[in-house]
Amino acid sequence: MAKKPVKRLSDYQAPAFFVDTLDLHVELHDSATLVTATSRLKKAGTDSLLRLDGEQLELVSLELDGVAVEPRFENDQLLLDVPGEGAELKVVTRINPEANTALEGLYKSGGAFCTQCEAEGFRRITYFPDRPDVLAVYTTTIVADKALYPQLLSNGNLVASGDLEGGRHFATWQDPHPKPCYLFALVAGDFDLLEDGFTTSSGRDVLLQIFVDKGRKAQARHAMDALKGAMKWDQDNYGLEYDLDRYMIVAVDFFNMGAMENKGLNIFNAKYVLADDDTATDQDYDAIAAIIAHEYFHNWTGNRVTCRDWFQLSLKEGLTVFRDQQFSADWAGSSATRIKEAQVIRTNQFAEDAGPMSHPIRPQAVAEMNNFYTVTVYNKGAEVIRMLHGLLGKAGFRAGMDLYFERHDGQAVTCDDFVDAMADANDRDLTAFKGWYSQSGTPVVNVAEHWDGSQYSLVLTQHTPPTADQQQKGPLPLPFAIELLGHGRQVLQLDGAEQRFELGSFAEKPVLAPLCGFSAPVKLVFEQSDAELAALVEKASDGFVRVDAAERLLQRLVEAWLKGEEHAALDLWLGALEAIAKGPLQDAFLESELFKVPGIMAMQGWFETIDLDGLVAARDRLRQAVRERCFGALKARYQEVQGLADKGARALTNSLLALLAENLPEEVARRYHQAANMTERQGALAAAVAGELAESEALLAEFAERYQDNPQVLDKWLMLQGQRAGALERMDQLSRHGAFNWQNPNRTRALFGTFIAHNPQCHTEAGYAWLGLVLPKLDAINPQATARMVAPLLQWRRFDAGRRAQLEQLLTALRARDSLSADVGELLDKALA
Ligand code: TRP
Ligand code: ZN
Repeated sequence: MAKKPVKRLSDYQAPAFFVDTLDLHVELHDSATLVTATSRLKKAGTDSLLRLDGEQLELVSLELDGVAVEPRFENDQLLLDVPGEGAELKVVTRINPEANTALEGLYKSGGAFCTQCEAEGFRRITYFPDRPDVLAVYTTTIVADKALYPQLLSNGNLVASGDLEGGRHFATWQDPHPKPCYLFALVAGDFDLLEDGFTTSSGRDVLLQIFVDKGRKAQARHAMDALKGAMKWDQDNYGLEYDLDRYMIVAVDFFNMGAMENKGLNIFNAKYVLADDDTATDQDYDAIAAIIAHEYFHNWTGNRVTCRDWFQLSLKEGLTVFRDQQFSADWAGSSATRIKEAQVIRTNQFAEDAGPMSHPIRPQAVAEMNNFYTVTVYNKGAEVIRMLHGLLGKAGFRAGMDLYFERHDGQAVTCDDFVDAMADANDRDLTAFKGWYSQSGTPVVNVAEHWDGSQYSLVLTQHTPPTADQQQKGPLPLPFAIELLGHGRQVLQLDGAEQRFELGSFAEKPVLAPLCGFSAPVKLVFEQSDAELAALVEKASDGFVRVDAAERLLQRLVEAWLKGEEHAALDLWLGALEAIAKGPLQDAFLESELFKVPGIMAMQGWFETIDLDGLVAARDRLRQAVRERCFGALKARYQEVQGLADKGARALTNSLLALLAENLPEEVARRYHQAANMTERQGALAAAVAGELAESEALLAEFAERYQDNPQVLDKWLMLQGQRAGALERMDQLSRHGAFNWQNPNRTRALFGTFIAHNPQCHTEAGYAWLGLVLPKLDAINPQATARMVAPLLQWRRFDAGRRAQLEQLLTALRARDSLSADVGELLDKALA
């Protein structure tokens, strides 16, 4: 197995040399691109040993102040002694973009050249101190064939361009803002271009450009509107303006993640740019706006102020996710926005913390950095910022942000620097709060109520169980928002392991709605009565509490079912659903969440050991019980909303259709064929697949035919194929389908990723045999994407004895492979430890 040494936060050392300027000259050729990198080095301390990172490079020449020097290597580093206070370093390397299927460094996507340098991809372009605390001013010259690549782009401002011999041309770009190399970008291609403009509050005219595949220009309109919305929002809310004359976004089809915030030249997965009503769902529209905003917001939180080292990743990611969540709530938000954010934490992040990859939002030890772009660093990181925002209030948080930029603009800093700015601007001691950065795991908050006929009080206790990476835990300060039904809402601040809160006198015992708005990323233990939970489902004023109360009821029910027992929660849950459906329609988005049966992934989180067959049976039984007992009321609601042309109604219609599909097969087909947009069409198709309707085969075929020329839409089709009952038997055929491509992570994630994460058929003997063949093949192509797909399997110890043994065997065999990547290797080392 290829191994990377583990690095520790505690071993951080400042660089021996800074790089003031970097001149890049890139001669683009498919299989032999020549990169000349000339940098001005400046000694930073007393050490004269320069360390340059490099991977998969062919070194052509190396010069220091014009004199050739012999390279000395240590692992993946090139070592050089640089006498004096500085020097000019010139490195020439040759690289092969065409063979680069890992999609890190410089590679080809379709017919275009593009780059991905975060986290450590720049070292696949040239030898360089590839670390975020080395900030340089870049000048980049790109040379390429003019007919094939009429557009040559890099960061900053275009300062020169022109024709060359042999049908080639060049462009030179200069970025005046010093940046770490992970923010470098280069693109060469032949795109359609959508242009617009934005004038900043101080009067700078910014040219906005979105580059997309030929013929897709109209589909970039929504992304452009979101970009302008985000630019205005950041001015209005944080006083932050754009700082260059041009902002470019390029959409490519081959991309490992969502998007990348390269200075002035974002590169996006086309999935998060292209949309129109025929091809994108309402959810797609919202995801595009959120990611466009996210990358734009990075210009300040990430680029102007960047990370000292990669352990600080949440400094930029947690903060930027929080900012994009705030933007989304203002721009396109609904009552379901916060519910969905909470679901990501409770389903995905809690699972990560319960498994072998558990880490704090600021990890302490990392081998492959790509493995730490996690739901913990990003989404739990955002929850931590949200708690700070709550603690300091809107104005206090803004004061902290202002001070952070005043102190650190142009610097590479740490999470501590951020919290210190918040503390100093508000004259608060946030020492205890910093524990959220260093402690992994999910705090469990225990709620005990006391009502003596008049006085009502609560005792909150907290403890965090040990995690794979960390045994000792302490209490963390956390805001615990509550509502007493009919008596209003308040926030209890829990600062220690145990605290008592006197809440006044009440003639009747009040009903407590705990953890309103998911005020802290914690688990709740609360022996609330079934009847009170049902009351919360129907009547709590907080949407999260209503959905959570339903989940707590269902958890009790499923727990009983798994033991072969019955439980009163079933009637209470069905009664609440029926009462809601019979009542006046108040909030379609919220109802769309309430009228869902939790998925297998969510249910897995309710239990320490996973009884997969029991959970599948329970889910089917829940769906059936709803159809038997609430059909009339839900059908009436369906008829009330199905014809309405609004987003909330569409969400609700889709939920109801998915729930009732087996009873309404003709309606599912009718809605599919008469769909006015992708939200309706995809909703109907998903309902047909979830209900395993006889119609689903024909509908899937119609869908593939209708959208045969649109890869983004075909990913939806591949996802449904991956989710379907009997998917495994079709895998061979599907992976030879024209819509599929082993090298494209959107395709492999859609089909294989969905199957691994969401299809119980993956966890059969045949499923494991299939994994044993497919995972090595995927890993050889793209380690980063494969590591992400493997994640659900790391939970192997939680399955039943039979599956546990088979998974252990599968993972052990995988780990023993010589050719295994460092990415997957790190995960398996942890999972099998
Ligand atoms: N920094 C990017 C973001 O959050 C994400 C990112 C990190 C990324 N590494 C990547 C994107 C590799 C693509 C490929 O917006
Ligand atoms: Zn980001």
